Amino acid sequence: MLTDDKGTEVVVARLPVGADAERASEAVLSVAERHRANRFVLDRDRRRFIACRARLRQLLGERLGVPPASVELAYGARGKPVLAPRFNGSALRFNLSHCGNLAVYAFSSRTDVGIDVEAIRVVDEADLIAAESFSPREREMYRDLPARDKPLGFLNCWTRKEAFVKAIGAGLAHPLDSFDVSLAPGEPARILRVQNTDGDCGWRIGSFFPAPGFVAAVVNEMPS
Ligand SMILES: CC(C)(COP(=O)(O)OP(=O)(O)OC[C@H]1O[C@@H](n2cnc3c(N)ncnc32)[C@H](O)[C@@H]1OP(=O)(O)O)[C@@H](O)C(=O)NCCC(=O)NCCS
Repeated sequence: MLTDDKGTEVVVARLPVGADAERASEAVLSVAERHRANRFVLDRDRRRFIACRARLRQLLGERLGVPPASVELAYGARGKPVLAPRFNGSALRFNLSHCGNLAVYAFSSRTDVGIDVEAIRVVDEADLIAAESFSPREREMYRDLPARDKPLGFLNCWTRKEAFVKAIGAGLAHPLDSFDVSLAPGEPARILRVQNTDGDCGWRIGSFFPAPGFVAAVVNEMPS
């Protein structure tokens, strides 16, 4: 578990996906979550969803002081899971991301948070995605990277952008060229612009390697 000085906690978990673990995990899910699990076409995806949700419930339950099965979730207009209104008193916010059997969870007190993880790899369509989804400034920074830095530079940008749009709850429906993030490997993660204003505009961003072969970013709102 990583905790920063502003109280944002990040938990990294390897998801248990064996049959015994699945039975134990499924037992703490809600009826709606079990229905969702049963809609996955691939058994592997069903198992990962069940394990990821069970771990989320366990982590939320520990922080709320309730059993995992008693945690109640609600959803924002674009699908962001949040605690149901009966937990409003806790002011706990969270977000999660998964990639293969790795899950990352972010928890924050009172301020919105978003997190994203990706496996470090060469993305075949990276240049095309950058051309279509990055902002003009990000496209320029990406283009200027030496070839050896491009795969991680691309994933730095992608995870940072996704963490931001997940923090605001809009997901990928949000215009991805409406803000700029830093992306060069080895340089600090920063939000460089939001809309017409330079700077982080009240959002903080961090980038980290949650496990060998993975890169992640977490964004949270600065307390006002
Ligand atoms: C949210 C989103 C960015 C996730 O991207 P991804 O790389 O496929 O998946 P990740 O593993 O990083 O994150 C998935 C988790 O994000 C969370 N999530 C879903 N929607 C979210 C949103 N709008 N904002 C923040 N978090 C969201 C969920 O917990 C989800 O996990 P789950 O599916 O196990 O419940 C993408 O699916 C998206 O843009 N969704 C919004 C779609 C939309 O606009 N729908 C409109 C119709 S209501």
